[in-house]
Amino acid sequence: MAILENPIEYLKGVGPTRAELLKKELSIYTFSDLLYHFPFRYIDKSLIYNICDLSEDLPYIQLRGKIIKFEEKGKFRSKRLIAYFQDDTGIIELVWFKGARWIKEAIPTAYAPYSGFLVGASILLENGEIINGSNQENVAYPSGLCAERVAIFYVGAKYPNVKILTIAVTVFSKSFNVTDVISPCGACRQVMAEYEDKQDQPIKVILHSPNDTVLISDKVSDLLPFMFKSPHLKKH
Ligand code: THU
Repeated sequence: MAILENPIEYLKGVGPTRAELLKKELSIYTFSDLLYHFPFRYIDKSLIYNICDLSEDLPYIQLRGKIIKFEEKGKFRSKRLIAYFQDDTGIIELVWFKGARWIKEAIPTAYAPYSGFLVGASILLENGEIINGSNQENVAYPSGLCAERVAIFYVGAKYPNVKILTIAVTVFSKSFNVTDVISPCGACRQVMAEYEDKQDQPIKVILHSPNDTVLISDKVSDLLPFMFKSPHLKKH
């Protein structure tokens, strides 16, 4: 049908600005691209779960209950708002990090005189602590290290047995116009993925851009298919 080949900007309610976004983010150029763009996951909003039934493999769920208490935890950089949410079967903590403030605060410690690309990485541990890291460069360029690895190696050294819940990364630059979310390099993905494997629990990854767009991945392994794993190193 010819109408399906119309450019997406001509669809009522789309217009040039949204069309740009649809093209860039989802490769939707025509009416037909949109029609055949199926959701990659389906969230059944008719289902309400019980807190006692929650498990790691339920990333998107609905709960029904009450917030029974609010609390501010942590000081200065790691300050966050915690609400205690209760249903008939249990209580869970809901944590807000006040937007991206907690990751942005990792940035001023970046040492990036050579690239001018300042990266901040924050790691939320299961004990509630937040560990910040930033990129540390060196005049011998390859000797420097990305923010993600600075943060995660610190966690590995200081809290070897505490699980990592989330890694959030952001970037700031006066020299570049950064609009996309920061995309961790392959080496950082490999390192994060191994820590995820080691703790046998997914690490959520939040990738943030200076314009406050975020891309969230439920686990690192989604960012690194076919990762190199320790069984590959097993001796015969
Ligand atoms: N960088 C990071 O710290 N994390 C990333 O995810 C990408 C790149 C740093 C490394 C270097 O200091 C600068 O950004 C430019 O590559």
